[in-house]
Amino acid sequence: MNVLVIGNGGREHAVIQALKKSPKVDKIYAMKGNAGIGELAELVDVDYCDAKAVGDWLDAHKDVGYTVVTPDDPLALGVVDELENRGHRAFGPNRRAAIIEASKAFSKELMKKYGIPTAKYEIFDEYEKALAYIRNGAFPVVLKADGLALGKGVLICRDLKEAEEGLKEIMLDKKFGAAGNKVVVEEFLEGPEVSVLAFTDGKTIVPMVTSCDHKRALDNDEGLNTGGMGTFSPAPFYGEKTERETMEKIMLPTIAAMNAEGRTFKGVLYFGLMKTKDGMKVIEYNSRFGDPETQVVLPMLKTDLMEIFEAVTDGRLSEIKVEWERGACVCVVLASGGYPLKYEKGKEISIGALDSDVILCHAGTKRKDGKLVTDGGRVLGVCAKGATIEEARQKAYRNVEKIHFEGMHYRKDIGIKYRDIPAE
Ligand code: AMP
Ligand code: GLY
Repeated sequence: MNVLVIGNGGREHAVIQALKKSPKVDKIYAMKGNAGIGELAELVDVDYCDAKAVGDWLDAHKDVGYTVVTPDDPLALGVVDELENRGHRAFGPNRRAAIIEASKAFSKELMKKYGIPTAKYEIFDEYEKALAYIRNGAFPVVLKADGLALGKGVLICRDLKEAEEGLKEIMLDKKFGAAGNKVVVEEFLEGPEVSVLAFTDGKTIVPMVTSCDHKRALDNDEGLNTGGMGTFSPAPFYGEKTERETMEKIMLPTIAAMNAEGRTFKGVLYFGLMKTKDGMKVIEYNSRFGDPETQVVLPMLKTDLMEIFEAVTDGRLSEIKVEWERGACVCVVLASGGYPLKYEKGKEISIGALDSDVILCHAGTKRKDGKLVTDGGRVLGVCAKGATIEEARQKAYRNVEKIHFEGMHYRKDIGIKYRDIPAE
């Protein structure tokens, strides 16, 4: 079968690398892809947020039997709905279900209504009321723009001054655009964080191996928020008891809640969780594979990814066994100078002889006049497996040293945090 994958990041490169291993998959097309993806797939230059354009392209390419929609924007815009309406098979939630990520106000109300543990919160659509509330509240406080904001619409404010500034940025200056028409003001929680991605067909939910992201730009979780500077899998503190608690109190109730709301979720549901002193709590839901979580999760998958995708679409996920390798995987993201603020593109990338089992996931790269050049803020993810996180980490960093481009920066501490927290 020929497959179309929608998206252009490191995550999509990881998905395509996994699909390449499937005997069920023949040719892969990628909309829009990047230089690394271009080595595995035929690149298609269509705006994937334009549902009609994607539908028209598929109508004209009858050889494509399945489409995987990975980024948040096309999911929230209803690209899956458009494809299904035209009779195409697609992986990913429809628009009604993708709201679980697209509106933080929706997801908080859902959790409250169905008793799913999360931080306490209030929602405001009027600046003055939000301001009066934070002036009477405790600090730190967390402010979240309601809508999609490239993972950057969350502000942790240590005091009233920061909170007043943050609220102004979100609601008055519209720093995150219309995403800031509503704001969620949330209690600040503490504890280690874990991302658990799960396949679900709306009936069965199958968690993948766990992973931990590093959202801040600099070592020791300092600097600005980014789309993610690196990941490792698994989360050391996530033992059997925590896994059971998450399944019973969070995962099963979430798919039941979505069904009860008439918003059955089919696809990958991403649980951003924190292990607090009062137990596991949901920090956020995403309606898709995480980036760069996918880059450390899918290399550990033993089962055919295409088989899982089709089982989700057909509602028979309970019939297949999803298996994982033991061991660990670490991904170090190499970013452009200046990222997450302003950065230049078009810097030539040189890649030395990497260890043969290192997995390079391209994010912002392209070919220009035959040369590999930077084309985004996050440029490459260098991923390595090992028996332990430490072994994987050392291998990843040994290979990072063989890659260069002007301005390149990366965190030196990926894979270190949480290592002293015992599994429970
Ligand atoms: P989000 O985009 O919702 O994942 O938030 C980005 C990051 O902000 C999370 O990964 C957490 O580290 C942090 N964060 C979000 N909500 C809270 C909260 N209620 N308490 C503490 N930290 C939070
Ligand atoms: N790594 C966080 C995300 O994909 O949203």
